[in-house]
Amino acid sequence: MKNKIIAGNWKMNNNRVQAEALITELIPLVSETKNTVIICVPFTDLCKAVKLTKGTNIHVGAQNCHWKESGAYTGEIAPSMLTELGVEYVVIGHSERRSYFGETDETVLLRTKAALAAGLKPIVCIGETLDERNSGNMEKVLSRQILDGFKDITADELKNIIVAYEPVWAIGTGVTATDEQANDAIAYVRSVFASKYGKTAADKLYIQYGGSMNDKNAEGLLNMPQIDGGLIGGASLVAAKFAAVVNAKK
Ligand code: PGA
Repeated sequence: MKNKIIAGNWKMNNNRVQAEALITELIPLVSETKNTVIICVPFTDLCKAVKLTKGTNIHVGAQNCHWKESGAYTGEIAPSMLTELGVEYVVIGHSERRSYFGETDETVLLRTKAALAAGLKPIVCIGETLDERNSGNMEKVLSRQILDGFKDITADELKNIIVAYEPVWAIGTGVTATDEQANDAIAYVRSVFASKYGKTAADKLYIQYGGSMNDKNAEGLLNMPQIDGGLIGGASLVAAKFAAVVNAKK
């Protein structure tokens, strides 16, 4: 199995004072891991996060970026504005962005392309809703999100992308997919990537699970062969819980 990539998604939480306290507490708790540790923080915390994590094993990510380099796009942030700060990763296409802010597979693709061009590593989120799963459409939805959302992504570009499989029904609900459900869905996701990029590239691709992952269930999930890491929301806001996820699989 590969080492894991564990990313915290703080969402719209933590002002600068709270961010400093959380990061300072987290640094010693995750310093021994062989896994990759990323924290994806609000735009306003990025400077602080980059500064505090300098010289540590914690990497910093943003939660969105636009596809244009500059211009009349009020409220948006260009990828190069992130790299300039020392940000390395960016979450793209989170289900909250898709459902509340009109994100589509097409805009996911545009943002991913622009992020890659700027040298960022995108964490691209996909996942089905409960209705889609219950009506037997899970595979159809996931394959559409991959085939449309990765349409122009080259095999070389794929090497710098992390995929997060996040079933919408498990996000922030306390309902986690079982180890097997998560593993099976990710196996399916990997098979779609294999059909597009070949088996070797698909095997190398990091695919995280996200959705109510925490200190209690991380070990089971992270020991599943298809699951290459986690994207952690709520539990990433508590240093000890997030560290327990990071350290769950040695
Ligand atoms: P959650 O969020 O861990 O709070 O369910 C995960 C995510 O949205 O990335």
